[in-house]
Amino acid sequence: MNTNYRIVVLLSGLGTTLQSIIDSQLPATISAVISNKANVLGLKRAEDANIPTHTLEHAIYASREEFDQQLQKLIDTYQPHLIVLAGFMRILSEPFVKQYYGKLINVHPSLLPKYKGMHTHQRVIDDGEPLHGSSVHFVNTELDSGPVILQARLPVLSSDSVESLEMRIKTKEHLIYPTAISWLAEGRIELKGDEIYMDDKNMSGPVVMDYM
Ligand code: GAR
Repeated sequence: MNTNYRIVVLLSGLGTTLQSIIDSQLPATISAVISNKANVLGLKRAEDANIPTHTLEHAIYASREEFDQQLQKLIDTYQPHLIVLAGFMRILSEPFVKQYYGKLINVHPSLLPKYKGMHTHQRVIDDGEPLHGSSVHFVNTELDSGPVILQARLPVLSSDSVESLEMRIKTKEHLIYPTAISWLAEGRIELKGDEIYMDDKNMSGPVVMDYM
């Protein structure tokens, strides 16, 4: 196990995504978990796993840039190889994203480039989409737009509500996010410009895992 590969996880809430990363026993060390909200369940999950935690409340900073500068300072004390957004519900400023381009990943609940932004499950149901899913992607300066590494795709059922769809999507996110992180930790994935290479081959699109 390459425990020299250090990850810092950023979250804002429940931390079920973090829990899936902890439980997957990845070839990596989760060096710290940082939340922009106090007392959230995600922090408790980290404490239970003996991972150092920090709360950096965005509300006390005058601007987005000031908060992001403090966040960057804190992250850099851990010198992570990878920064993992796990339900971190903040838009990050351009300097922050540029600083970590290629080392900053997110999981977004849609089949990107479709359904960027919020309320993806509701919008998918409203549009009568037959398929929905989740995407693991590198973060760039545009919202939910960076190169996509891996997607989980599943059918939308006629019986689905926002809640049932969210639950089914989350279950798959808990498989694909740890998988993508392990590929990165093993050095199998590399970003060159805005192109992803897997095992030294240019990926023409994301790896898609179908759960039909
Ligand atoms: C996850 O479903 C993730 O896809 C979503 O937040 C949830 C976090 O769940 N992220 C976004 O919507 C980012 N745009 P958690 O708090 O239980 O880990």
